[in-house]
This record gives sequence, C-alpha cells and structure tokens, in this order.
Amino acid sequence: MTDQDKLSSGDLLTLGIETSCDETSCSVVRNGKWILSNSIASQVRSHAPYGGVVPELASRLHIRNVIPIMDRALEEAGVSLDDIDLMAVTGGPGLVGSLLVGVELAKAISYVRKIPLVPVHHIAGHLYTPFLRNAGEKKPEGEFDYPFLGLVVSGGHSSLIYVKEPLHYETIGRTLDDAAGEAFDKVAKLLGLGYPGGPVIDRLSRDGDPEFVSFPRPGLKSGNCHLSFSGLKTAVVRFVQNWRREKGDPGEGVIRDIAASFQAAVIDTLLSKTDRAIRETGARRLAIVGGVACNSGLRSEAARRLKGIDIHIPPPLLCTDNAAMIAGLAPSLYRDGRIAPLTLNANAGLRIS
Ligand code: KG4
Ligand code: ZN
Repeated sequence: MTDQDKLSSGDLLTLGIETSCDETSCSVVRNGKWILSNSIASQVRSHAPYGGVVPELASRLHIRNVIPIMDRALEEAGVSLDDIDLMAVTGGPGLVGSLLVGVELAKAISYVRKIPLVPVHHIAGHLYTPFLRNAGEKKPEGEFDYPFLGLVVSGGHSSLIYVKEPLHYETIGRTLDDAAGEAFDKVAKLLGLGYPGGPVIDRLSRDGDPEFVSFPRPGLKSGNCHLSFSGLKTAVVRFVQNWRREKGDPGEGVIRDIAASFQAAVIDTLLSKTDRAIRETGARRLAIVGGVACNSGLRSEAARRLKGIDIHIPPPLLCTDNAAMIAGLAPSLYRDGRIAPLTLNANAGLRIS
C-alpha cells in the first residue's frame, strides 16, 4: 500500500503534538481512534508557586520536554518515525510561545520525513475525545456518534458547541469573561488552596455544605447560552472579605463549605445553560470535555439532571490537555484537504470552524 493509499483508506498512524498551554504531550493514534500512546509532561509543579501559568516559563519547559516526550510516545507505541504516516499539531488557540514549540517541531519532522502535516484546533480536539479508544480495549462500550452538543470547560474556555457532523461546529454559547476552570483556579487562590484550583476544590467540596452560601448563578436569566463566571468569583471574594472583617480567618470547615457552595454554583450554571442549549438544538447526545470535566460533582450531577440524554464524559486523562485528541482528529482533517504548508504559524486566537 502506498502512503497515499494508506492516508485515503484510513489505515494510518498519526503522531500528534500538543503544547498549547502547560502540558507537553505527544501521542500515536491508529486510524483516528485507537490510542497506542499518550505521553504527557505536566508543568503544574513549576507554575504552582506563581498561582497560574507563566507563559514564558511554559514555552521554555515545552522546549526542554517536547523531544523526550515524543520519543517516549513513539517507544510506548512500539513504532518509530519511519512508521508515521501523518503529523498533527495543535495550531491554536493557546499561548503563542507554547504553541510555537509544537508547531515548529511538527513542521521540522514533516519537512525532513516528508510526512503531511495537519494543524488541529485545540477545542475541536477536545470535542473529538468521545471517539477515542485505548488500543487494548476489546469491545468498546457504546459508540458515540454525531450530532452532539459539546460542553467545553477548561482553564481557557467555557463554551457550548453543537457538532452536527464531523468538522462542523456551531457555537451556541461562549465564555463572556472568566472561563469555568479559571474561576476554579482564582477562587482556590483566594482561599489559599494552591494551583490548579479545580482538583482541590473538587476534593474539599465532597465534605462541604453546598448550601452554606447561596452564591449567584450568573446569567441564568439572560435568555442565551453564553457563560460568565467573573461575577460569581467576585461574589466569593466579597463573601470571604466580609467574613474576615467580621469573624477573622475562615477555618478549614468554613473553607470547605465555601468551596462546596462555589462548586455547586458553577455546576448549576453549567448544567442550566447546557439544558437550554439542548432544548435550542434538539441534541440527544452530550459530550462534556476539557479539564473541568474531571470534576466529580459535575460528572454525577450531569447524569442526574439531564435525563434521557446520552452523556459521554471522557476518562480524566482525556479531559485535560493531551495529544491523543489532536492525533485522533487529524485523519478527518487530512481527508478534508486541510494540509498545512511549511509556512504554518501558531495562531493564539484561532477560531473553530
Ligand atoms: O483542559 P485543561 O487541562 O487545560 C486548558 O485547556 O485550560 O484544563 C485545566 C483546567 C484548570 O483550570 C483546572 O483547575 C481545571 O481544568 N480542573 C478542574 C478539575 N481538574 C482540573 N476543575 C474542576 N474540577 C476538577 N476536578
Ligand atoms: Zn484544553
């Protein structure tokens, strides 16, 4: 079989590179579905002292990590660059200095090895995760399908996107200010809980009282599906300031209750907007993707509140940033003719289309 035949028949190995934010990841995926490897070097520890991602530091760490991570991904997949038929890289959106590291490496490999290169939109990648399977999986449980509504909730995005068919994205609701994950991170910082905030607030919420404070559910009366979390964050700031003024530093129990009340407000807002988008689009399937989809409260509440909807939430390793979602989507883009020239540049503000 020639390379061209392999690419058009669908029997192909893709090497994906994802460096849009603070995770360096490379992955080998067979036929846009089967994950042979998904190596990830997280930079969380390096950014934690600063309470958030430091772009310059992120770029430098990507430069240091990306080749060892690529070598590890190839080794774990049991293949070499000689076996790769298609290169895929996150072209945007993201931090431009971080994106550039992946884009330049992908272009270099594509040029030297004469392998076609496809740029992948980061959010389109997240939305592709329901279609990925681990190579070892014998019988995939229930195949996900189009059309579906995607709730994308991460550190940089909260949006509701209707995916009518492959590569066809209609934005129903978008982030108006702080993204959902950003709100988790900022509230955790305010409560002195460290970075990233989502996992720790999730953990504390399990033993906290979600009705301790009735925080606002932003934009629920707005009549649209856009998402805004900055007002909720400000409400938490005010509550904590008042508490400090009147009663001193909140103790551990109170912190847990504030965390649980904040998380309940985020979940209620996200699921109310999702419910609205389901009614607007008539969607019968829902994928919840992005780092915040790891949240245990969101996972259980979604199933409880959205009855009659086929809900897919990826395993945590595929919720947060990873290159498997990039390598997975690439063959469809390739077949649609979206091959990048060697002048490909990173695009921090790339729109989904
Ligand atoms: O998708 P992701 O890895 O990176 C971006 O593209 O932003 O998402 C990272 C975000 C962070 O804001 C982090 O606090 C949040 O996902 N996150 C969570 C949880 N795990 C990660 N938020 C809520 N609950 C969690 N368990
Ligand atoms: Zn992401």
